[in-house]
Amino acid sequence: MSRAVPPEIAEILISEQEIQDKIAVMAKAIDEDYCGKEILLVGVLKGAVMVMADLARALETPVSMEFMAVSSYGSSTSSSGVVRILKDLDREISDRHVLVVEDVIDSGLTLNWLLRNMRSRGPASVEVCALLRKPEAAKVDVPVKYVGFDIASEFVVGYGLDYAERYRDLPFVGRLKPEVYAG
Ligand code: PRP
Repeated sequence: MSRAVPPEIAEILISEQEIQDKIAVMAKAIDEDYCGKEILLVGVLKGAVMVMADLARALETPVSMEFMAVSSYGSSTSSSGVVRILKDLDREISDRHVLVVEDVIDSGLTLNWLLRNMRSRGPASVEVCALLRKPEAAKVDVPVKYVGFDIASEFVVGYGLDYAERYRDLPFVGRLKPEVYAG
Protein backbone atom coordinates (compact mmCIF):
# COMPACT_ATOMS: atom_id res chain seq x y z
CA MET A 1 0.00 0.00 0.00
CA SER A 2 2.66 2.51 0.97
CA ARG A 3 4.10 4.53 -1.90
CA ALA A 4 7.50 6.02 -2.53
CA VAL A 5 8.31 9.26 -0.75
CA PRO A 6 9.05 11.98 -3.36
CA PRO A 7 12.69 13.13 -3.34
CA GLU A 8 11.62 16.74 -2.61
CA ILE A 9 10.50 15.69 0.89
CA ALA A 10 13.17 16.42 3.52
CA GLU A 11 11.39 14.80 6.43
CA ILE A 12 8.11 13.12 7.32
CA LEU A 13 6.64 14.90 10.35
CA ILE A 14 3.42 12.92 10.75
CA SER A 15 3.23 9.50 9.15
CA GLU A 16 0.27 8.02 7.30
CA GLN A 17 -0.31 5.62 10.19
CA GLU A 18 -0.21 8.42 12.78
CA ILE A 19 -2.74 10.42 10.76
CA GLN A 20 -5.09 7.47 10.34
CA ASP A 21 -4.83 6.56 14.04
CA LYS A 22 -5.63 10.15 15.01
CA ILE A 23 -8.61 10.31 12.68
CA ALA A 24 -9.95 7.13 14.29
CA VAL A 25 -9.58 8.75 17.73
CA MET A 26 -11.28 11.97 16.59
CA ALA A 27 -14.09 9.99 14.92
CA LYS A 28 -14.72 8.08 18.16
CA ALA A 29 -14.97 11.33 20.15
CA ILE A 30 -17.30 12.85 17.54
CA ASP A 31 -19.49 9.72 17.49
CA GLU A 32 -19.87 9.93 21.27
CA ASP A 33 -20.70 13.65 21.19
CA TYR A 34 -23.25 13.38 18.36
CA CYS A 35 -24.90 10.13 19.44
CA GLY A 36 -28.41 9.92 17.94
CA LYS A 37 -27.88 12.98 15.73
CA GLU A 38 -26.90 13.57 12.13
CA ILE A 39 -23.88 15.65 11.21
CA LEU A 40 -23.42 18.00 8.29
CA LEU A 41 -19.71 17.98 7.50
CA VAL A 42 -18.62 21.23 5.85
CA GLY A 43 -15.24 20.88 4.18
CA VAL A 44 -13.19 23.92 3.25
CA LEU A 45 -11.63 23.40 -0.19
CA LYS A 46 -9.15 22.38 -1.20
CA GLY A 47 -7.02 21.40 1.76
CA ALA A 48 -9.75 19.62 3.70
CA VAL A 49 -10.60 17.00 1.07
CA MET A 50 -8.37 14.31 2.54
CA VAL A 51 -9.56 14.80 6.12
CA MET A 52 -13.16 14.93 4.91
CA ALA A 53 -12.84 11.67 3.01
CA ASP A 54 -11.12 9.77 5.81
CA LEU A 55 -13.10 11.28 8.69
CA ALA A 56 -16.46 10.67 6.98
CA ARG A 57 -15.53 7.01 6.49
CA ALA A 58 -14.29 6.63 10.06
CA LEU A 59 -17.51 8.00 11.61
CA GLU A 60 -20.39 5.75 12.62
CA THR A 61 -22.70 8.77 12.88
CA PRO A 62 -24.73 9.44 9.72
CA VAL A 63 -23.27 12.39 7.83
CA SER A 64 -23.93 14.48 4.79
CA MET A 65 -21.23 16.54 3.15
CA GLU A 66 -21.04 20.09 1.86
CA PHE A 67 -18.06 22.03 0.59
CA MET A 68 -17.15 25.68 0.62
CA ALA A 69 -14.31 27.38 -1.20
CA VAL A 70 -13.06 30.66 0.18
CA SER A 71 -10.28 32.98 -0.78
CA SER A 72 -8.48 35.19 1.65
CA TYR A 73 -7.46 38.66 0.52
CA GLY A 74 -3.80 39.29 1.15
CA SER A 75 -0.60 37.58 0.16
CA SER A 76 -0.56 33.91 -0.80
CA THR A 77 1.27 32.97 2.39
CA SER A 78 -0.67 34.88 5.04
CA SER A 79 -4.38 35.46 5.31
CA SER A 80 -5.86 38.83 6.15
CA GLY A 81 -9.12 37.76 7.68
CA VAL A 82 -11.09 39.31 4.84
CA VAL A 83 -12.62 36.39 3.07
CA ARG A 84 -14.42 36.03 -0.23
CA ILE A 85 -16.70 33.07 -0.96
CA LEU A 86 -15.67 31.33 -4.19
CA LYS A 87 -18.10 28.45 -3.77
CA ASP A 88 -20.93 28.58 -1.29
CA LEU A 89 -22.82 25.72 0.33
CA ASP A 90 -25.38 24.10 -1.95
CA ARG A 91 -28.05 23.88 0.76
CA GLU A 92 -29.37 25.71 3.77
CA ILE A 93 -27.96 24.62 7.11
CA SER A 94 -30.66 25.89 9.44
CA ASP A 95 -31.28 23.48 12.32
CA ARG A 96 -28.41 21.24 11.20
CA HIS A 97 -25.47 20.13 13.33
CA VAL A 98 -22.58 21.59 11.37
CA LEU A 99 -19.04 20.30 11.79
CA VAL A 100 -16.54 22.41 9.87
CA VAL A 101 -13.61 20.28 8.68
CA GLU A 102 -10.22 21.89 8.10
CA ASP A 103 -6.77 20.58 7.26
CA VAL A 104 -4.87 23.30 9.09
CA ILE A 105 -5.54 26.30 11.29
CA ASP A 106 -2.75 28.82 10.89
CA SER A 107 -3.62 32.39 11.90
CA GLY A 108 -7.21 31.26 12.54
CA LEU A 109 -8.54 34.20 10.51
CA THR A 110 -10.22 32.08 7.83
CA LEU A 111 -11.95 29.93 10.40
CA ASN A 112 -12.94 32.92 12.53
CA TRP A 113 -14.70 34.44 9.54
CA LEU A 114 -16.20 31.10 8.51
CA LEU A 115 -17.64 30.39 11.95
CA ARG A 116 -19.35 33.77 12.06
CA ASN A 117 -20.68 33.13 8.57
CA MET A 118 -21.99 29.65 9.53
CA ARG A 119 -23.62 30.87 12.74
CA SER A 120 -25.49 33.60 10.85
CA ARG A 121 -27.32 30.86 8.92
CA GLY A 122 -29.12 29.48 11.97
CA PRO A 123 -27.66 26.00 12.44
CA ALA A 124 -28.53 23.88 15.49
CA SER A 125 -24.81 23.82 16.37
CA VAL A 126 -21.41 24.59 14.85
CA GLU A 127 -18.15 22.92 15.84
CA VAL A 128 -14.76 22.53 14.19
CA CYS A 129 -12.55 19.54 13.47
CA ALA A 130 -9.01 20.29 12.23
CA LEU A 131 -6.24 17.83 11.61
CA LEU A 132 -3.47 20.36 12.24
CA ARG A 133 -3.16 23.55 14.25
CA LYS A 134 -0.23 25.95 14.56
CA PRO A 135 -0.69 27.59 17.98
CA GLU A 136 2.30 29.93 17.55
CA ALA A 137 0.76 31.41 14.41
CA ALA A 138 -2.64 32.18 15.98
CA LYS A 139 -3.85 35.75 15.53
CA VAL A 140 -7.34 35.08 16.83
CA ASP A 141 -8.57 32.56 19.33
CA VAL A 142 -10.98 30.22 17.57
CA PRO A 143 -12.82 27.47 19.45
CA VAL A 144 -11.79 24.16 17.90
CA LYS A 145 -13.41 21.16 19.53
CA TYR A 146 -11.48 18.42 17.72
CA VAL A 147 -7.77 18.89 16.94
CA GLY A 148 -5.51 16.21 15.54
CA PHE A 149 -2.03 17.61 16.06
CA ASP A 150 -0.59 20.89 17.31
CA ILE A 151 2.52 21.58 15.25
CA ALA A 152 5.21 24.25 15.04
CA SER A 153 4.63 27.24 12.81
CA GLU A 154 6.56 25.99 9.80
CA PHE A 155 5.60 25.27 6.21
CA VAL A 156 4.41 21.70 5.73
CA VAL A 157 2.86 19.81 2.83
CA GLY A 158 0.88 16.65 2.28
CA TYR A 159 -2.50 15.22 3.22
CA GLY A 160 -4.29 18.17 1.60
CA LEU A 161 -1.63 20.82 2.16
CA ASP A 162 0.11 22.11 -0.94
CA TYR A 163 3.08 24.02 -2.18
CA ALA A 164 2.09 25.66 -5.50
CA GLU A 165 -0.80 23.14 -5.71
CA ARG A 166 1.56 20.14 -5.45
CA TYR A 167 1.87 17.48 -2.74
CA ARG A 168 -1.75 17.54 -1.55
CA ASP A 169 -2.00 13.86 -2.47
CA LEU A 170 0.74 12.65 -0.12
CA PRO A 171 -0.67 10.39 2.62
CA PHE A 172 1.64 11.95 5.25
CA VAL A 173 2.58 15.46 6.41
CA GLY A 174 6.16 16.45 5.75
CA ARG A 175 8.69 19.18 5.28
CA LEU A 176 9.99 20.12 1.84
CA LYS A 177 13.68 20.47 1.06
CA PRO A 178 14.60 24.19 0.99
CA GLU A 179 15.82 23.96 -2.62
CA VAL A 180 12.25 23.25 -3.72
CA TYR A 181 11.26 26.82 -2.77
CA ALA A 182 14.47 28.25 -4.22
CA GLY A 183 13.91 26.47 -7.55
C1 PRP B 1 -5.52 26.95 4.23
C2 PRP B 1 -6.35 26.05 5.15
C3 PRP B 1 -7.26 27.00 5.85
C4 PRP B 1 -6.46 28.29 5.89
C5 PRP B 1 -5.89 28.44 7.26
O1 PRP B 1 -6.21 27.13 3.05
O2 PRP B 1 -7.05 25.06 4.46
O3 PRP B 1 -8.46 27.18 5.15
O4 PRP B 1 -5.39 28.18 4.95
O5 PRP B 1 -5.16 29.64 7.34
P1 PRP B 1 -5.51 30.76 8.44
O6 PRP B 1 -5.75 30.04 9.73
O7 PRP B 1 -4.24 31.58 8.49
O8 PRP B 1 -6.67 31.55 7.98
P2 PRP B 1 -5.55 27.85 1.78
O9 PRP B 1 -5.99 29.30 1.76
O10 PRP B 1 -4.08 27.60 1.74
O11 PRP B 1 -6.29 27.15 0.56
P3 PRP B 1 -6.25 25.59 0.10
O12 PRP B 1 -6.91 24.79 1.19
O13 PRP B 1 -7.01 25.57 -1.17
O14 PRP B 1 -4.79 25.22 -0.07
